[in-house]
Amino acid sequence: MFPKHILSVEQFDPKMIEHLFEETAKIKATMKGGNEAHYMGELVGKFLLNIFWETSTRTMCSFDAAAQWCGMMTFGIPNAPAFSSVAKGESLRDTARTLAGYHANVIVLRHPTVGAAAEAAQVIDSHGKQTSIINGGDGVGEHPTQALTDLYTIQDEGELKNIHVLFGGDPRYGRTIHSLARLLTRYNNVEMTFVAPEELQIDPTLKAYLDTQKVHYTIETDPRKVFPYADFVYWTRVQKERMDSELFAKLQHEGTFTIGRREMEMMKPTARLMHPLPRVGEISEEIDHDPRATYFRQAENGMYVRMALLLDLLRESK
Ligand code: NCD
Repeated sequence: MFPKHILSVEQFDPKMIEHLFEETAKIKATMKGGNEAHYMGELVGKFLLNIFWETSTRTMCSFDAAAQWCGMMTFGIPNAPAFSSVAKGESLRDTARTLAGYHANVIVLRHPTVGAAAEAAQVIDSHGKQTSIINGGDGVGEHPTQALTDLYTIQDEGELKNIHVLFGGDPRYGRTIHSLARLLTRYNNVEMTFVAPEELQIDPTLKAYLDTQKVHYTIETDPRKVFPYADFVYWTRVQKERMDSELFAKLQHEGTFTIGRREMEMMKPTARLMHPLPRVGEISEEIDHDPRATYFRQAENGMYVRMALLLDLLRESK
C-alpha cells in the first residue's frame, strides 16, 4: 500500500521502490519515444497544488510538468512568504487547511522548517481531508522525492548494489544527501564516503542512523583521495541559507572546491557525477559534455519519477 502522504524516505522499502522504478522506466521510455500524451488521460479531474516557502526550479516545475502530463490541473505559489497570506502572518496550519479545502488531491510543500510537511499532513488528517501532502524539502531535514530521483538515476546508470558513493559539497546541511544516504542503506554492499571540511560533515543524527543500519561509511576531507574509487560522486552546493554568515564567509575564505577536467581525470571511466542542482560554481561547465556528467539526466529523471509517484498515489484513489 502506498502511503497517503510522502514525508520521508523511511516510508519506502525496496519492494515499493522496485515497483515505482518499473513504472518510471516505462514512463521514461514512452515519453522519450515521442508518445508524450500517453498518460494524459490517467489523472483527469485531479488537482495538484505546489506551495513553496523557498525557491525551486526542479522540484516545483517537475511536479507541475509531471501532473500536467498525467492530465491533472495544477496551480503553484512559488514564493509563499511574498505571494500568499503568509506575508500577513498566516500560519502553515491554516494555509494547508485552506488549500486542502479547494479539493486539492496533492499539495507539494517546501518549507525551511524540519517537520513542516508532517505538520501540514497532521492538520489535514485531523480535519478529515483526503489531500496528500508531499514533502518537497523541509529545511535541513529531508527531500524524499529528490532521493527517489537520485536512486532511480543510480539504478538507471549503474546498479543498486556493490557501489561506492562519495558524497561531497555540503553533507551537513544538504537535505538531498540526508535522504539519499538513508535510502541507500537498504541496498547490499553500498559503501559511502562523506567528504567535506569539518563544519560541513554529517551530523551525529545521521552518523547514528548509519551506525544502526550497519553501513560501511568513512569521513574524509580531501575528495581527491576518494575520486579514484567512487562509482558515484554525488556533489551539492554549500547550503548558504542554512548557516550563519560567519561560517559561510570562513568557508569562502578557505577557498571553494570545483570539479573540473582535472578532477574528472581522477575518476573511474565508468563513474557518474551527480548533483541535485542548482550548481553555483562547484562543477565547472567545461565538463558538461563528459558522458559521466549525469546531473541534467538526473534532473530529467525527476519528472518521470514524479509521474510514477502521482500515478501510484492517485490512480486507484477516489
Ligand atoms: C536541492 C534542494 O532544494 O534541496 N535542490 C533540488 O530540489 N533539486 C538542492 C539545493 O538547493 O542545493
